[in-house]
Amino acid sequence: MAKIVCNKKLSEDFFLMKVEEKNSAKMGQFYMLRAWENFPVLSRPISVFDSDGQSVSFLYKVAGQGTGIFSALKPGDDISLQGPLGNGFPAVSGKIALVGGGVGIAPLYLTAKTLMKNHPKNIIDIYLGFSGQVVLIEEFDKVSRELIVDIGGFITDKINPGNYDYIFCCGPEAMMRVLYDKCNALQRGKSLYVSMENRMACGIGACLVCTCKNESGNKKACKDGPVFPADEVYGK
Ligand SMILES: Cc1cc2nc3c(=O)[nH]c(=O)nc-3n(C[C@H](O)[C@H](O)[C@H](O)COP(=O)(O)OP(=O)(O)OC[C@H]3O[C@@H](n4cnc5c(N)ncnc54)[C@H](O)[C@@H]3O)c2cc1C
Ligand code: FES
Repeated sequence: MAKIVCNKKLSEDFFLMKVEEKNSAKMGQFYMLRAWENFPVLSRPISVFDSDGQSVSFLYKVAGQGTGIFSALKPGDDISLQGPLGNGFPAVSGKIALVGGGVGIAPLYLTAKTLMKNHPKNIIDIYLGFSGQVVLIEEFDKVSRELIVDIGGFITDKINPGNYDYIFCCGPEAMMRVLYDKCNALQRGKSLYVSMENRMACGIGACLVCTCKNESGNKKACKDGPVFPADEVYGK
């Protein structure tokens, strides 16, 4: 069990929770979280928003029962964490765009920090799409060269894939497909990596609930991913 340091309400339905946990989480990885005994049956997968080695933070949106329970937790309460899990974003260098839609912005903060730390000459632009209230804009601004925000429209309209060596994306499936088509139209399909937020049960590759078809056969989003080259997922 780990202790909650803080669990702050950022907007109508976004919360930021910091938990005491020694960790070496990498960009794009996730944890399975639970704060209950028996119900709901399954733990819930949540991406690592930030980590300082001694604590880990999660940005989450209240979607149903599990995240609803998380939202009621107070500093000092216990939570069970399993992780860090999965294969996150690759440690590339160059001009990199991070594109997030909705709660898909969650894994992009640690990703931006890590990419900047790995190669100080990396150029990181961040594109965030929100349907309602914006959150954590000042934080994202500090870890990017340019921060582009869209509210209520399509953040994918604002990016020119031709300007980047790599693009990392996390968000609704439809958004990631549109971005892939846009990249592909410029022969830039191979520059795009997507983080798949499939429904998960075990989170460790044992149950097949998260199986997704890709170019080289069936893959487990929890163990082989959640990050995949978009070409493998959406390519024909
Ligand atoms: C690898 C991974 C990383 C994730 N990272 C985050 C994160 O950082 N922050 C965050 O808020 N959420 C994240 N999610 C989604 C999060 O796991 C779900 O929102 C959560 O499990 C919902 O649990 P619940 O009990 O609150 O809702 P439930 O009662 O289980 O479901 C409520 C609604 O949410 C939908 N839903 C449930 N799971 C998902 C999912 N995986 N994708 C899309 N819709 C879903 C259901 O269809 C239903 O409509 C991530 C998912 C994965 C697989
Ligand atoms: S969630 Fe069980 S195999 Fe991926």
